[in-house]
Amino acid sequence: MDIRLLFIGDIVGENGLAFLIDTFPKLKEKYNPNFIVTNGENIWQGKGLNEEDAKLLFKSDVDVITTGNHIWENWKSRPLLASNDRVLRPMNYPSGNPGKGSVIVEKHNIKIAVAQLQGRTFLQTIDCPFRAADAFLHNLDGKADVIIIDFHAETTAEKMAMGWHLDGRVAAMLGTHTHVQTADAQILPNGTAFISDVGMTGPYDSVLGMRKDIALKRYILQTAHKFELAESDMKVAGAYLEIDSNTGQANYIEPFVYPQFNTKSGI
Ligand SMILES: [Fe+2]
Ligand SMILES: [Fe+2]
Repeated sequence: MDIRLLFIGDIVGENGLAFLIDTFPKLKEKYNPNFIVTNGENIWQGKGLNEEDAKLLFKSDVDVITTGNHIWENWKSRPLLASNDRVLRPMNYPSGNPGKGSVIVEKHNIKIAVAQLQGRTFLQTIDCPFRAADAFLHNLDGKADVIIIDFHAETTAEKMAMGWHLDGRVAAMLGTHTHVQTADAQILPNGTAFISDVGMTGPYDSVLGMRKDIALKRYILQTAHKFELAESDMKVAGAYLEIDSNTGQANYIEPFVYPQFNTKSGI
């Protein structure tokens, strides 16, 4: 049986979440997914995730929520990480932090492992994600039929390196965090679906989801200005994948941005 995976990139703001929930029926009609993963690190005012917003996602048939570096900036996220096995944070943060970096979900008689790792280039100097991936796969020891990895990292180089590190060992390595979708979706030679970043779900009349006037002030004046969420030009970005549960390898990956970007003037 195929796993038809819908993987949604970083949801920014509660408006981004509302837009995703409104758009889900269209995406479900188009792709008919039987497993959904969303990245929720930026939902609560741009940073973190609370219980109510997680509930909204689970009510919309989301199976697992991944997060990332911003999850720690909202104190309300921590009890959620500690209490809900289906809300993940990168596994390679130092031990002692709440939450888990992986979960095995059994669905359609298939054991699907979802795990999250975070890169170290231009981010916190946490434990090595490559060694963490090796230890995770070693401990998993064949207990999952399908393995999906969210690699939350800043640079395309570190993401590509992780793709090669995991090729043939997982069904998919899908990048998050940069909020800009990359044009490198592919099935690697040993059967792992890969994309450096699936992109952002939220307001695109912005700089990565934040108000563009404030982002510009920070660049031009080189002083601190409090970020605020942008509000318009909502889009959902993500990828649709088909994974063979017998082999644990991916057969297909299709990134999407909905609605598409304008590439002509006057629309
Ligand atoms: Fe993000
Ligand atoms: Fe992030």
